[in-house]
Amino acid sequence: MSELPGDAVGVGLVGLGTIGTGTARILLEHAELIRERLGHPLELVRIADLDLGSDRGIDLSGFDCSSDWRDVIGDPRVGLVVELVGGTGVAREIVIAALEAGKGVVTANKALLAHHGFEIYETAARCGIEIGFEASVAGTIPVLRALREGLCADRLEQVFGIVNGTCNYILSEMDEHGEPYESCLKRAQDLGYAEADPSFDVDGTDSAHKLAILCGLAFGVQIGPEEIATEGIEKISAVDIDYARRFGFRIKLLAIAKRSEAGLEARVHPTLLPCESMLARTGGAMNAVEVRGQKSGPTVYYGAGAGADPTASAVVADLMELARSRKLGPAAGGVRVPPLGTPTLRALPVRRLEDLEGEFYLRFDALDRPGVLAHLAGALGDRDIGIASLLQLEERRSEAVPVVLLTHRVKEAALRAALAEVARLGDICSTPRLLRIEREL
Ligand SMILES: NC(=O)c1ccc[n+]([C@@H]2O[C@H](COP(=O)([O-])OP(=O)(O)OC[C@H]3O[C@@H](n4cnc5c(N)ncnc54)[C@H](OP(=O)(O)O)[C@@H]3O)[C@@H](O)[C@H]2O)c1
Repeated sequence: MSELPGDAVGVGLVGLGTIGTGTARILLEHAELIRERLGHPLELVRIADLDLGSDRGIDLSGFDCSSDWRDVIGDPRVGLVVELVGGTGVAREIVIAALEAGKGVVTANKALLAHHGFEIYETAARCGIEIGFEASVAGTIPVLRALREGLCADRLEQVFGIVNGTCNYILSEMDEHGEPYESCLKRAQDLGYAEADPSFDVDGTDSAHKLAILCGLAFGVQIGPEEIATEGIEKISAVDIDYARRFGFRIKLLAIAKRSEAGLEARVHPTLLPCESMLARTGGAMNAVEVRGQKSGPTVYYGAGAGADPTASAVVADLMELARSRKLGPAAGGVRVPPLGTPTLRALPVRRLEDLEGEFYLRFDALDRPGVLAHLAGALGDRDIGIASLLQLEERRSEAVPVVLLTHRVKEAALRAALAEVARLGDICSTPRLLRIEREL
């Protein structure tokens, strides 16, 4: 075990995968720059990973390596532990054990924080230890720091955006090339944007995890991912993207949270946005988050939401912040800013989608026979649902012809009831496609 220089802060890394390797690389390649900015070295001293045999493209000979994460936490030179294992099982054990051992913790693990964040923040507070998790939401973009510190004087009302680069890449490719979902997903996997099992990305779970974290920081509320109504992009077809465009919209997977007198909204779903809006123009694998505050107005955060180097850059920035605090020591006040920017979190129920009001895009596969449109308009009209625009297309799809319409503002519960009535009429061949429209985002 090599000695650590007296003024250095020692780092232990658990999980040497994509982000772990990127983190080690930045700590090595930027060691001098980091030392200059901190005024002392930040030194990677110990690594744990299950597989230490694979070539990661970095020289591990100078580090103590093992397959047991407990070796990292037990190493007296390690002051800061980086958890980059992922998942909610062993990662939770690692983080809790590190905090209880008095080590500062940095993680990029949004699933862990969404499911066990409150236990982890409480442990950190009880132990008087800081935890950094900037990389868990929108990769390199410092939006959590902005919420926690830059905007801390304001009452925030909305936070929303594109927080999953894989989905944004797939939807952007479908929009640009008119290709089907499956081939765009395959390309995302080939390029390394999507994992071999991309379920958590494409079904919206990953975005819901990030939204739960954003809600904690923006509104000081405690919500779990199960409270967030979540729909993914798997059912978005090239025809919906094409029809949306004819109405002047692009489809994006959005994570949306709003706080008002009526309560808290938190939802993840594919959304039609006007083509000229900032989020609609966020293409490829990029992320963009907008925050709206009573006094600060809108602020926008844009950049790479994933990938080894951008995410690792946020991990190392957290390490530097925690190293600075450690140098000040407990006498200087211990934890400078609580993880969610406030020591007291509120529990606030999330409003049901059915109770929200909005505009909708509906696509029906209607039988090609007289009276169908009149039936459709009647079922909607009976519940005071106004049709803002309608397209009946010539392009036949087997037995059916597509009918696409946009509604005026309506409560989702009323729309769902009208759709149930439409289904009973027997004019429609399949479940209609319902997508929400947001004009003001
Ligand atoms: N990839 C991204 O772009 C990105 C962006 C933002 C946040 N994140 C988050 O960053 C974290 C790491 O993601 P990643 O993409 O780097 O994952 P990854 O490539 O799968 O790396 C995880 C590493 O941890 C190792 N590991 C698993 N269990 C372990 C244990 N018990 N002890 C020690 N090592 C263990 C794995 O070894 P084996 O391979 O041998 O199992 C693997 O090398 C996740 O929480 C992820 O959500 C990732």
